[in-house]
Amino acid sequence: MARNFFIQALLLFFTTLLSFVSAWDINNHNDRHGCQGYSQDPLEGCDRERTIFVDVVNPESKYKTVQSAVASLPNNTDTYIILIASGNYTEQVNVTRQGPTYLIGQTAHPTQQSYNTVNIIWAAIAIPGLDNAFTSTLTVAPNLNASLTGSGPTGFAVPAGTPFGCIDFRTYNLNFINDFAPYSDDPSLALSISYANGGFYYTGFYSYQDTVYVGKLGNAYIKDSEVAGETDFFYGFGTAWVESTSISLRSCGGGITAWKGTNTTFPNAYGIYIVGSNVHAANSSLNITGKCALGRPWNSQMRSIFAYTYLDKSILSTGFIDWNPSRYNNYTVQAEYKDYGPGYNVTGREVAKFDVQLTSEQWAKYSSPEKVFQYPDGKFGNTGWIDWSI
Ligand SMILES: *[C@@H]1O[C@H](CO)[C@@H](O)[C@H](O)[C@H]1NC(C)=O
Ligand SMILES: *[C@@H]1O[C@H](CO)[C@@H](O)[C@H](O)[C@H]1NC(C)=O
Ligand SMILES: *[C@@H]1O[C@H](CO)[C@@H](O)[C@H](O)[C@H]1NC(C)=O
Ligand SMILES: *[C@@H]1O[C@H](CO)[C@@H](O)[C@H](O)[C@H]1NC(C)=O
Ligand SMILES: *[C@@H]1O[C@H](CO)[C@@H](O)[C@H](O)[C@H]1NC(C)=O
Ligand SMILES: *[C@@H]1O[C@H](CO)[C@@H](O)[C@H](O)[C@H]1NC(C)=O
Ligand SMILES: *[C@@H]1O[C@H](CO)[C@@H](O)[C@H](O)[C@H]1NC(C)=O
Ligand SMILES: *[C@@H]1O[C@H](CO)[C@@H](O)[C@H](O)[C@H]1NC(C)=O
Ligand SMILES: *[C@@H]1O[C@H](CO)[C@@H](O)[C@H](O)[C@H]1NC(C)=O
Repeated sequence: MARNFFIQALLLFFTTLLSFVSAWDINNHNDRHGCQGYSQDPLEGCDRERTIFVDVVNPESKYKTVQSAVASLPNNTDTYIILIASGNYTEQVNVTRQGPTYLIGQTAHPTQQSYNTVNIIWAAIAIPGLDNAFTSTLTVAPNLNASLTGSGPTGFAVPAGTPFGCIDFRTYNLNFINDFAPYSDDPSLALSISYANGGFYYTGFYSYQDTVYVGKLGNAYIKDSEVAGETDFFYGFGTAWVESTSISLRSCGGGITAWKGTNTTFPNAYGIYIVGSNVHAANSSLNITGKCALGRPWNSQMRSIFAYTYLDKSILSTGFIDWNPSRYNNYTVQAEYKDYGPGYNVTGREVAKFDVQLTSEQWAKYSSPEKVFQYPDGKFGNTGWIDWSI
């Protein structure tokens, strides 16, 4: 009897341990891929307690838009997952909640962005009197004020006391498209993230101008993804780390990057870091050889670094350029470290006036996400939201 009880207790202990060890984990490839795959019951392989299914095609589905699913989530610190069925969703998605929020797309190829089957599409351009924020396909910010770009060297003055938004927002296998016009005209954002931390994996962002906006206190980690644009298509005030990503040039305008630095009471690393990525013409019929600039200073304290990145022949022989009228000064950081490819013209870089080649000591200051992502108070190492398994 006692022995039977002991064995049963032992069994219970191990099953509990097993269920604990094997709790569904977004960072676990098998768990995530299992949920993203196709099956009769779309939630098979998902964490049923915390996952909402969105399907634009099935008329019976409770949620037909991504925004309706996002809006159903409580503003608390609990984790939620939204699984999105293959299809085109014509809508803007705004995420204001604080808790971990993961948007994942159905796919049979979860490790290849080019096979994504979910497109979230909007078409908007900034019009006079209306901030760029209103154009974005996806916005992650605690409220509208936090997401405003504003103008002038310091942009919109976000009111003091504005709370931080999502501490861990992520997308996997989704494309965000702003297809207002097939050329750059005015700001047309696909992503806007401010006062929030966001990880974007196997994700596509497509527009022509100001495609990816990383606003104030925004931290964006983009990996194994694709960003396509023409003019200043990575811009902002916050911090972006873009790794192993395809950067597709749809033409040349302004620069690939344009950032505004901020004077803080603490040291900051606000800026954009493009690392181990591939910069290339969108297709071979474009006539952009030697014409695209790596970036230009949106304000004098712009910080933009391309490191270990392949540059195709579209890139200007002298790399970065100045703004017109001139803003480049000795506070501006427009730099490269170990870039390569036909767009890395050694003699061009030697005569460049607005492009600096970093020494290994200089690069070491910025050489990992831990060194650049900060908490709102300036403390470095705000990386708990990064999926390191990718
Ligand atoms: C969410 O909750 C936080 C903390 O209570 C609060 O500061 C914030 O304004 C809330 N956001 C929304 C959109 O209600
Ligand atoms: C879905 O959107 C993509 C990207 O805009 C487009 O190429 C495709 O034709 C659309 N598919 C349908 C079924 O509308
Ligand atoms: C998202 O936010 C923008 C800017 O506030 C607003 O124009 C838009 O209507 C919002 N969309 C949704 C679906 O909440
Ligand atoms: C947004 O900012 C403006 C200008 O600072 C301010 O008047 C307004 O009260 C703010 N709105 C919210 C909801 O904080
Ligand atoms: C090449 O890319 C440009 C910019 O996106 C596009 O307008 C054009 O249609 C593309 N051409 C081909 C042949 O795909
Ligand atoms: C920050 O401080 C520097 C040095 O004082 C100054 O040149 C620059 O204009 C300031 N930038 C902003 C955005 O206030
Ligand atoms: C590219 O340039 C070539 C040679 O100048 C020209 O024949 C061709 O039409 C141009 N293509 C485009 C898309 O402008
Ligand atoms: C930056 O440039 C200003 C003049 O434009 C000069 O006075 C200052 O010494 C320079 N600072 C450094 C660190 O080179
Ligand atoms: C490399 O840059 C130099 C200096 O700007 C320029 O003269 C040369 O034509 C460039 N070479 C190529 C292949 O673009």
